Amino acid sequence: MLYIILLMSLCCGCTADKKSSTEELRVGVLLYNQDDLFISSMKQELDECFRKTEKQEGCRITVSFFDSMGSQTTQNEQIDAFIKRGYDVLCVNLVDRTDAATIIDKGKKADVPIVFFNREPVSADLSRWDKIYYVGTDAAEGGKLQGEIFLDYYKKYPEKIDKNGDGVIQYVLLEGEPGHQDAAIRTESCIKEIKEGGVEVERLAGANANWKLTQGKEKMEGWLTEFGDEIEVVISNNDAMALGALEAMSESEWADIHIEIIGMDGIEEAQAAVQEGRMMGTVLNDAEGQAEVVVRLALKLGKEEEPGEIPNMKERVIRVPHDKLGTG
Ligand code: BGC
Repeated sequence: MLYIILLMSLCCGCTADKKSSTEELRVGVLLYNQDDLFISSMKQELDECFRKTEKQEGCRITVSFFDSMGSQTTQNEQIDAFIKRGYDVLCVNLVDRTDAATIIDKGKKADVPIVFFNREPVSADLSRWDKIYYVGTDAAEGGKLQGEIFLDYYKKYPEKIDKNGDGVIQYVLLEGEPGHQDAAIRTESCIKEIKEGGVEVERLAGANANWKLTQGKEKMEGWLTEFGDEIEVVISNNDAMALGALEAMSESEWADIHIEIIGMDGIEEAQAAVQEGRMMGTVLNDAEGQAEVVVRLALKLGKEEEPGEIPNMKERVIRVPHDKLGTG
């Protein structure tokens, strides 16, 4: 009997500072820039998933979203404010992914766990504390799938792509933000996949358009003026820039000749363009799947519980798989 009482008191002791399911959990979410089309879809998914989890778990979850508007200094100040107001856990979409140390140290000092997502901290920063996680994707896998979409389509309809029939595919490349883990790696892996598939390619031009539709459109306008219908394919690191290229084409004198475009993310507008045959394909950067992992981690860490088994997790980094969304 004494043993049982002792055991019970020990168990109560070890869970004493854990949140009970009736308590409110306060989660702060910081977005690097809410104007980003993919990030705004992530925000929607996160919001829905937190609401769903609240119902399932029967606990109150207060979620506050902040837009850091492209400034790391603003984001750091927002973190201070959340910590001061006693938030239990933070979900952070870094502005500058190489500058996570300050935020991590703030969290560590106040013992507020952090789930980073989409913009990956460097591994030296990730090892600063064991209550930090990263949720994102494998950029090389994403690029490879873009390459596969191209190959599937090219094998079926070679004449639709190689319009000048020279056996070489002339392409232009819209790259994301310099230094972002998803930009250069996607590009490299996509081109590698196409070449390994036995197709010769020639890069006519490429430029960083910083994930933005407007910049993608601007770059494409310039290339259409310079190369016109010599361009056979547009490869884009994301859908927003691909949609910009699409706009530039439809407003140009080349509106009638169809230039194939491959995007990445699977945002609604791009999926519609794929369905309507205006884009060759896109790759699903699974916002819903990533949001589910972020929410699960936030819930567990916020309640001071162990996150347990999470698919695709290695050293507190979870890479949610992509999927192909192509017409091929
Ligand atoms: C997405 C882009 C987005 C960027 C923001 C990437 O993973 O593909 O669309 O702009 O993340 O960090």
